[in-house]
Amino acid sequence: MTRYKIAVIPGDGVGPEVIREGVKVLRAAADVAGGIDLDFAEFPYGAEHYLKTNELIPEEVLKELSRMDAIYLGALGDPRVPTGILEQGILLRLRFYFDQYVNLRPVKLYPGVPCPLAGKGPEHVNFFVVRENTEDFYVALGGRARGKQKANLDLIRALYEAKFNLDIDVDRDEIAYQLGVISRRGAERVIRYAFELARRKGKKRLTSVDKANVLTHVYGLWREVFESVAREYPEIETEYAFVDAVAMWFVKNPEWYQVVVTPNMFGDIITDLGAMIQGGLGLAPGGNINPDGVSMFEPIHGSAPKHAGKNVANPIATILAGQMMLEELGEQEVADIIEAAVVEVLRERRVRTYDLGGRSSTSEVGDEVVRKIENR
Ligand code: IPM
Ligand code: MN
Repeated sequence: MTRYKIAVIPGDGVGPEVIREGVKVLRAAADVAGGIDLDFAEFPYGAEHYLKTNELIPEEVLKELSRMDAIYLGALGDPRVPTGILEQGILLRLRFYFDQYVNLRPVKLYPGVPCPLAGKGPEHVNFFVVRENTEDFYVALGGRARGKQKANLDLIRALYEAKFNLDIDVDRDEIAYQLGVISRRGAERVIRYAFELARRKGKKRLTSVDKANVLTHVYGLWREVFESVAREYPEIETEYAFVDAVAMWFVKNPEWYQVVVTPNMFGDIITDLGAMIQGGLGLAPGGNINPDGVSMFEPIHGSAPKHAGKNVANPIATILAGQMMLEELGEQEVADIIEAAVVEVLRERRVRTYDLGGRSSTSEVGDEVVRKIENR
């Protein structure tokens, strides 16, 4: 019996509802497969806990989580808390603390799922986005400058006077800036992961997405690293694409893509687009992976406050995040059982939530996936 300790953070909004179904499905799949024991430990972090205690996620808890095999997360974000607090204080904190430098987001359209792209079906939409997850504009380096202190004045003058050819008005003028950082090591490890993923999944092409024509410093380094790692994988075809062009090509020719690797910010944006072409946010899972540490799995959708507490959210993204978690833990057979059950439920088009044109509830979808697992 292999025992896995899984930390569960249901979080905010629809998070607890979708996580409940995910845990239900994981338990059922583990039971049916046999040989593994999933030991779930639930943690309360999120808006409710923050509003009550003013605590986001304490250091001791992060230490405790580092003894777990994986983290299973619902969603974070709540209209009662100013935007960014929970996202940065919990979600990004976890990604950075555990150095989960890969954000793996499969873009896969399953049979039976309506695709908004005319004339495209499951044979056209099936690729992976590997998003760097710890650098770029997510490093939180930046600031604002205004007022009369000399350092601020110098900075404002340098950036502002030259641009507008005006004398600065110390009472009104202000600037803000935010730095993106790419490190050679940081780029190399995630790009290497993408090549290894391509190899493992039998994919033949890797696309590097950037904006090196404008952000020459950061993405110039990214390209240089991509080129040098590519030499170690001669059997994999490579190409560069600018992010604006990729936004167009994902819509026009999604079948071109096999594995895409991209810095953090562009990865954030193109994976919401990816989610739409695979049938919507209700179907898109993601893994925040540290191949040598503790990884965390979550749906890529947010907490959807307006749907919270109504038992209507689609739990499939979270269920598929659970499937990714088992695959990462090395339990391919259990992962395959879950995916096969999801495929069957989607293919039948009978039990589905509102986003897929159905009327079933969150828990009915979870129950149906469990039924497929048990009646395999
Ligand atoms: C995501 C989300 C997060 C991100 C937010 C909530 C901080 O949009 O997981 O894609 O930007 O990474
Ligand atoms: Mn996002």
